[in-house]
Amino acid sequence: MNKKTIIISLGGSLIVPEEIDWKFIKKFKALIENQIEKGYKFILITGGGKTARKYIEAAAKVDAIANEDKDWIGIHATRMNAHFIRTIFREHAHPRINTNPHDLEDFYNFKENILVAAGWRPGFSTDYDAVVLAKYLDIKNIINLSNIDYVCDKDPRKFPDCKKIKEISWSGFRKMVGDKWDPGMNAPFDPIASKLAEEENIKVVIMNGKKIGNLENYLDGKKFSGTIIRN
Ligand code: UTP
Repeated sequence: MNKKTIIISLGGSLIVPEEIDWKFIKKFKALIENQIEKGYKFILITGGGKTARKYIEAAAKVDAIANEDKDWIGIHATRMNAHFIRTIFREHAHPRINTNPHDLEDFYNFKENILVAAGWRPGFSTDYDAVVLAKYLDIKNIINLSNIDYVCDKDPRKFPDCKKIKEISWSGFRKMVGDKWDPGMNAPFDPIASKLAEEENIKVVIMNGKKIGNLENYLDGKKFSGTIIRN
């Protein structure tokens, strides 16, 4: 069977918002297993979450640390989370975690229903890694799960009256987020990843992963809450 493959970028804020949110992961696992039965395959890319930030803050209290080293700590946090996710999906997941989206030799045509991927190298984000994987594997759909319901026209923490955006073009979105990636920036989707997604004609849907029923609606082709970004 030629199964439909979806890439999910699983934001670190969902895996480790403060502590490891095993209750969320338990629900997420049930949903993914249910969707596998319906015929989907998944690539799950894990973010770093609080684990990354806690280690970076701790290191910075001990000594001055370079941006590149901050990124490496972040990358290893994404990899720790990837091992966690691969472990809980043991019976469905490819045994190896992809940590280089440009090196897919061992991962093309993976037989399992889940492939887990994590951070690659400094200067990038898992959003970018997700788009690179999509490009090479010719997948046109990415779901970006984080803790926001919609992309807003202004920063919702500063402007509570901001308007939620249900659908936006890549050119419109890129005007909002700019062209530069700063480590630790809080754009709903990384600007460099956005540029590549626009070039590769990839659709990204941003939604709140905590609302598992909403994600299920989307996968089932029903009405859902979230922001669609496409050309
Ligand atoms: P992410 O920024 O992708 O994870 O990686 P996240 O936890 O989902 O982040 P939020 O919640 O959206 O902010 C965590 C950090 O790891 C480094 C970066 O420093 C990034 O901020 N990283 C990740 C890299 O340097 N290269 C990668 O390929 C991936």
